[in-house]
Amino acid sequence: MDKLLIQGGVPLSGDVAMSGAKNAALPILCACLLTNEPLRLKNLTQLNDIATMLRLIGQMGVTVTMEGNDSLILDAGGLNKPLAPYDMVKTMRASILVLGPLLARCGEARVSLPGGCAIGARPVDQHIKGLQAMGADIHVEQGYIQARATRLKGARIFTDMVTVTGTENLMMAATLAEGETIIENAAREPEVVDLANCLIAMGARISGAGGDRIVIQGVERLHGATHSIMPDRIETGTYLCAAAATGGEVRLTHTACDYLDAVIDKLREAGCEITCGPHEIWLKAPARLKAVSLRTEPYPAFPTDMQAQFMAINCVAEGTAIIRETIFENRFMHAVELIRLGANIRIDGSNAVVTGVPHLDGATVMATDLRASASLVIAGLVAQGETLIERIYHLDRGYERIEEKLSRLGASVRRVK
Ligand code: EPZ
Repeated sequence: MDKLLIQGGVPLSGDVAMSGAKNAALPILCACLLTNEPLRLKNLTQLNDIATMLRLIGQMGVTVTMEGNDSLILDAGGLNKPLAPYDMVKTMRASILVLGPLLARCGEARVSLPGGCAIGARPVDQHIKGLQAMGADIHVEQGYIQARATRLKGARIFTDMVTVTGTENLMMAATLAEGETIIENAAREPEVVDLANCLIAMGARISGAGGDRIVIQGVERLHGATHSIMPDRIETGTYLCAAAATGGEVRLTHTACDYLDAVIDKLREAGCEITCGPHEIWLKAPARLKAVSLRTEPYPAFPTDMQAQFMAINCVAEGTAIIRETIFENRFMHAVELIRLGANIRIDGSNAVVTGVPHLDGATVMATDLRASASLVIAGLVAQGETLIERIYHLDRGYERIEEKLSRLGASVRRVK
């Protein structure tokens, strides 16, 4: 298994380009299942999760034609097997996003129930509840969601909590339903909006995406389209944190500040200077960061996918920060690894109290999930001496060519096979 070896202590500097968003690309790849015409996607990142999703829809009969490194054409005209097998779903929970489109297009779907994951139980009861409200007959047998519907019917759906992929699944299903669907308490994440924009380009009738009430008028069929995936705001936030923690100065291109208000706000509170351009962000870090407390909440509040990275920067900041995680019940796995690097962190239920220390010391640490591994990379860039991060397959799920990009910013990082 690959590992990452980091020699810390180098302030990051220079320019680097951000990639397309993983969490927008995954549902948008599933949107191709809603039509028998070609869907061209641009600005698609090369990540393990994207490759998994392409294999998943490929085995259903979708043809995938690559056009260069970051663009492809999907054609679901030959869709003939509405099945998501356990072996694929167990490696990536986002596979659940095929359920709504398959049910809407094929009238049936057999999708393995995703198990839990390192950060929480993560049930999909709201996805199922919403599809049942649209008239689907759904039951679970032998670990599979078995769903049937002659044609879905529009419905008013209220999700018990804000769920990102739940909103995306129901929105996709509703595009081909009979009549009007209203999703109340909908997720407002930018990735939901990017998906809605792609669906609208395919002929869907959607209004209100980005707000907490989305209205979808079902249509008979959707057509082909071309869509460019939005920039990855979490990758962007991660590089901003890496520059901030190392006392660096960077310019990130192919991205935007638009979707990062809460993150940029906290970095400014920590003492960073940040300037936003139309497609770039410039950050200059202070000599030493100030500790910043935060609470994760659904968008537009502070994203849970940036919580671990901020725990890492608070490890070397001046003062004490309180981090409250409200979305996932087990998302502090990185804390024990950061403590191995010399951090001072106390966990108390869904609160973490981080007291900044003058420096961290390199050591061998283990990645436990995607964003936890990003926090270990940031800590390793700051730490004195060498840090070796094991199990970086977690990192490869969500960060494209990370060692290459960090090296471009002057970091001493290499992958150890
Ligand atoms: C999406 O996951 C993202 N994944 C996650 O990013 C992100 O952390 C999360 O949203 C929150 O922002 C993708 O977009 C592929 P949720 P999702 O449904 O949709 C509970 C990353 O690092 N819930 O919004 O699975 C759930 O357990 C990943 O890139 C139910 O109880 O998250 C959680 O506590 C990690 N029942 C909360 O709601 C349901 O049916 C929010 O989860 C659905 C959700």
